[in-house]
Amino acid sequence: MALIDKTPNMEINADLTTMNTFGLPAKAKHLLRVRSVEEARQAHAFLAGHPEGLARLSLILGGGSNLILGDKPLDTVLKIEIPGRRRLERADYESDAKSSFLVEAGAGENWHDFVRWTLTQGYPGLENLSFIPGTVGAAPVQNIGAYGLEAADRIDSLDALDLTTGEFQRFEAAACRFGYRDSLFKHQPGRWLITSVRFRLPQHWQPITRYTELAQELADRGCSDATPTPLQVSDAVIALRQRKLPDPTELGNAGSFFKNPVIEANQCGTLLANHPAMPHHPQPDGREKLSAGWLIEQSGWKGRRLGPVGCHAQHALILVNHGGATGKDVQRLAKNLQDDIWKQFGVALEPEPVYI
Ligand code: EPU
Repeated sequence: MALIDKTPNMEINADLTTMNTFGLPAKAKHLLRVRSVEEARQAHAFLAGHPEGLARLSLILGGGSNLILGDKPLDTVLKIEIPGRRRLERADYESDAKSSFLVEAGAGENWHDFVRWTLTQGYPGLENLSFIPGTVGAAPVQNIGAYGLEAADRIDSLDALDLTTGEFQRFEAAACRFGYRDSLFKHQPGRWLITSVRFRLPQHWQPITRYTELAQELADRGCSDATPTPLQVSDAVIALRQRKLPDPTELGNAGSFFKNPVIEANQCGTLLANHPAMPHHPQPDGREKLSAGWLIEQSGWKGRRLGPVGCHAQHALILVNHGGATGKDVQRLAKNLQDDIWKQFGVALEPEPVYI
């Protein structure tokens, strides 16, 4: 107990309900807020100072937007709140300063506020990722993506504390093993405490508007003739997301609940024979990506409820908490959806959020 008493940023029996966007009830025996690199070291010392060591660590928490908390009480939760955002000059960091801005943010910064800050400072490149809930430090874990851009396309490097050794490590983007909603960090939960992320943002910017929906929104806003500005693209993305996706402060959710499944081309051909309208997108490796939202809608689940949870009426891929749901309720609904999609289409749906 002595260590706990000496740690001022520690809360005992903390309620996590408002710290996850699904609004699931959960408690942490110890909630340790990490607001600086120094406090990250202290968090490591706290864990290392106990006989169970890292086994005590239940979760490294950012904005809680990609998380399904179970019903069991958690032991130690680290809540990452490291602030800071700045442009790095050449003296700070070796870079091709002629063609890109190098911008760094603390892992605890709110993602959307950071994106808007870069745009108002005149550093374009993250506008398609506007209005995604969560923190800067969580963006690489999940490799967040939207409207034809992924965080991985803009990440230069990041710093992380290895909680197994207490050593800091710098990861260049290539070492992060980014994939579709995937990274090295997602596969080693509880090991890497990301403290800051650096982004390489293009000085010679071109808008990414190949998503028809985004191009249409820009056209509706009168941006069709002239090239839109980065802020105009950001505004259009915000409008699209506000229209389609439920606000987690009103209806608990974790964004897209399943990844869009990627299947073999021959299976896609067989499915298309029965469902000619099925959306499908060829991948560089010859496989085809399907729309999980479309599959769920076809299975009849759109707008349907199972207990206190359900599929959102406007977007079937968003599972929502209608009030009072627990992690078990979410898991039950997810399992029902997976089973039904498997039976109907022979396609396996993989959850995007992490189950704790
Ligand atoms: N669709 C339906 N019914 C629905 C929902 C979708 O038929 O109820 C079909 C439509 O054909 C639609 C297609 O699915 O055109 C794709 O839907 P949408 O454009 O909304 O995109 P998504 O594939 O469902 C992905 C990302 C989102 C990202 C959007 C925009 C995943 C798992 N999700 O969604 O990311 O914002 O594209 O780029 O890749 C997230 O990861 O949490 C997330 C919100």
